[in-house]
Amino acid sequence: MKAPKRIHVVAGARPNFMKVGPLLAEMRRHRDRFTAQLIHTGQHYDPEMSEIFFEELGLPRPDRSLGVGSGTHAEQTAKVMIEFEKACVEDRPDLVVVVGDVNSTLACAITAKKLCIPVAHVEAGLRSRDWTMPEEVNRIVTDAVSDFLFTPSRDADKNLLKEGVAAERIHFVGNVMIDCLLALLPKAERRDTLASFGVEAGRYATLTLHRPSNVDDPDVFRGIVEVLVELSRSLSIVWPIHPRSRKNLERFGLLDKIANCAGMKLTGPVGYLDMLALNRGARLIITDSGGLQEEATILRVPCITLRNNTERPVTIESGCNRLAGNESSQIRAAIHSVLDAKREIHTPELWDGKAAARIVEVLLRLP
Ligand code: UD1
Repeated sequence: MKAPKRIHVVAGARPNFMKVGPLLAEMRRHRDRFTAQLIHTGQHYDPEMSEIFFEELGLPRPDRSLGVGSGTHAEQTAKVMIEFEKACVEDRPDLVVVVGDVNSTLACAITAKKLCIPVAHVEAGLRSRDWTMPEEVNRIVTDAVSDFLFTPSRDADKNLLKEGVAAERIHFVGNVMIDCLLALLPKAERRDTLASFGVEAGRYATLTLHRPSNVDDPDVFRGIVEVLVELSRSLSIVWPIHPRSRKNLERFGLLDKIANCAGMKLTGPVGYLDMLALNRGARLIITDSGGLQEEATILRVPCITLRNNTERPVTIESGCNRLAGNESSQIRAAIHSVLDAKREIHTPELWDGKAAARIVEVLLRLP
């Protein structure tokens, strides 16, 4: 009998943990075929950005923690590459699996490829066509060096084919993050999250913001905050504030403005289950996150995305998501139109909780 394939599964930042959870669980169901190791790069390191997800998602302890922390893009990417190269040289994995589009994804994909270790990218093929987004650079470079491209939607397949990727490398498997959501929704629903924020189902909005394009420029951030303060007078807003946004709210003198608003329920980053419970009960989700656009779609909660583009067009086609840019009048108009009209929301193809099983099915065919 052949020895099990050694697979390094990489997670680095908050949005990675819910993607590697279902993958590791599925791989561990085939212990005779795979030895999966979890590598945590440490891109996100605060307990509420990392540790809590290990507990709530039932993730195994990382087999290796690279502990890279924050830095500029070059520093962070370089630090991950240096540490991950050592891990790869020592362990010689047969395959490296990376997920999503964060700096750790890019860094580990390049490192593995240069050591001639095959790379699998989960959530491949998404394109915003906005090169000012660091994630777009990460997506394109990661896909270019990956041997297995696991896509969440048909648009991703089309993007890759248009870029000249051979069809045999592309595998449409659905959305692995939805596997995690569907598995943990019953647990999230049993929590008293809404009561702890003093809100009732259907009578509040959830908000998350962290993109540099929204929170790094004082004028832009101030404009967004003004619309949100206005909205909070008629609809409560639960806002788990990302570390980047908190720093800038303080720096731009905006924190007091929102802290004194009765309708604003502010908190630090929350865990996966509380976030899921909050999203499930919301009347509206306002966000600039990629993952939340998808979660809103499955939960059938209307979503307003404060960006001019999305790499996840299927969330718009499904009737859930609407792009509102980051300019006050546009955001205000989007909010009114969503609150005034009910729209039907459809579930995208293969967002059925079985994406990880499909990925592993493909990997089981490895020679
Ligand atoms: C990163 C990802 C982004 C993802 C987001 C989710 C990249 C390029 N970006 O952006 O795709 O949507 O995570 O959160 O990889 N910080 C802390 N504690 C932490 C982590 C970060 O205080 O645990 C601070 C850092 O010091 C930094 C800021 O937050 O000042 C931003 O962190 P960083 O990892 O650089 O990028 P994100 O904006 O979180």
